Amino acid sequence: MVAEAGMVMRADVVYDAYKAVKTDHTKVIYMSPQGKTLNQKKVEDLAKENHLIILCGHYEGIDQRVIDKIVDEEISIGDYVLTGGEIPAMVLIDSVSRYIKGVIKEESVQEESFSNGLLEYPQYTRPEIFEGEKVPEVLLSGHHENIEKWRQAKSLEITKKKRPDLLENK
Ligand SMILES: C[S@@+](CC[C@H](N)C(=O)[O-])C[C@H]1O[C@@H](n2cnc3c(N)ncnc32)[C@H](O)[C@@H]1O
Repeated sequence: MVAEAGMVMRADVVYDAYKAVKTDHTKVIYMSPQGKTLNQKKVEDLAKENHLIILCGHYEGIDQRVIDKIVDEEISIGDYVLTGGEIPAMVLIDSVSRYIKGVIKEESVQEESFSNGLLEYPQYTRPEIFEGEKVPEVLLSGHHENIEKWRQAKSLEITKKKRPDLLENK
């Protein structure tokens, strides 16, 4: 069935669903193309929240009255419009979950792109030689200090090349 133009999700229905699951420490996020664009800093902040409700719209969206009543923050995943808020909600859940203790190793999160304002250094694995291309010598040396220096230099080099905008506010 093709959705009719102009269909909007009802305020009373959304409000009933909200009342059924809210707690005293709930933060309500509405996934919306009109919200602030999600970034790593926001992901980190949301991971510290006690309880999140993620509201997903469909059709033209949700009746503004219930948005005004219950929503603490609107978040977008980018300047384009999707059919519904479910995929944006999955993006939010996945990115926030990585900061929850026990989901992945803490050091993996700390070194990843954006966590220190830079993109991550390149990754290599076996085989040592692939189509004539060797894994960088320093990574095979076992010299931890030199490996760390190489990673920092690569991180900076890649950020300058791919996302120079990230270095503007550093
Ligand atoms: C077709 S969109 C509604 C767009 C709305 N009429 C507008 O022009 O701003 C339906 C729902 O998809 C979700 N959605 C679409 N694009 C999104 C984006 N970029 N980020 C987050 N949520 C989005 C929202 O929950 C929205 O209510």
